[in-house]
Amino acid sequence: QAARLTEEIEINQCEMIYILMEVMESTSDETGQHIKRVADISKLLAQYVSYLSEEEISSIFLASPMHDIGKIAIPEDILHKPGKLTDEEMTIMKTHAEKGYELLKSSKRRLTNAAAIIAYQHHEKWDGSGYPRGLKGEEIHIFGRIVALADVFDALTHKRQYKNAWTVDDAVEYIKQNSGKHFDPALVDILITNLSEFLEIMNQ
Ligand SMILES: [Fe+2]
Ligand SMILES: [Fe+2]
Repeated sequence: QAARLTEEIEINQCEMIYILMEVMESTSDETGQHIKRVADISKLLAQYVSYLSEEEISSIFLASPMHDIGKIAIPEDILHKPGKLTDEEMTIMKTHAEKGYELLKSSKRRLTNAAAIIAYQHHEKWDGSGYPRGLKGEEIHIFGRIVALADVFDALTHKRQYKNAWTVDDAVEYIKQNSGKHFDPALVDILITNLSEFLEIMNQ
């Protein structure tokens, strides 16, 4: 009975997150489908990381949809600008990582805490060239590293307002070239080795 109640609460929580994200969707060019795929890709990556527990895998699945929640605080005209952003606008756009973290950081509950980490770290890069803090390698939490790869892989292979979808080959080539630069090499290996499973998610 207790287990059923927990499950019910988790499903409910999950639904609420997706509703919230769909509201946010209207404020950016990322679709609800993108958000769902990022959650699925993140979960699959996490399942192949041997040291992550079932609970951590579930946290990453439920929290990854909130990675861009800080965009709520970005002015409409920047968020919706059809063309390329100026340097100044880009600087403002980049604050969404920190703003998302600010929204979520006060809770120490499992799920919100995971969401705070992901919001804060999903634009960090393995070689330290990311933002907001320029964290390097394993200084970046595994949740952040996973969502960074899932987010980019999905964004490349699907159409956005400002670009067409890349072919899978081109996207995989890009990911390989950025292994150890943008992405955690161990996660890139997981993606490449099990590519067909990831492509199944892509084609959903
Ligand atoms: Fe982001
Ligand atoms: Fe995204």
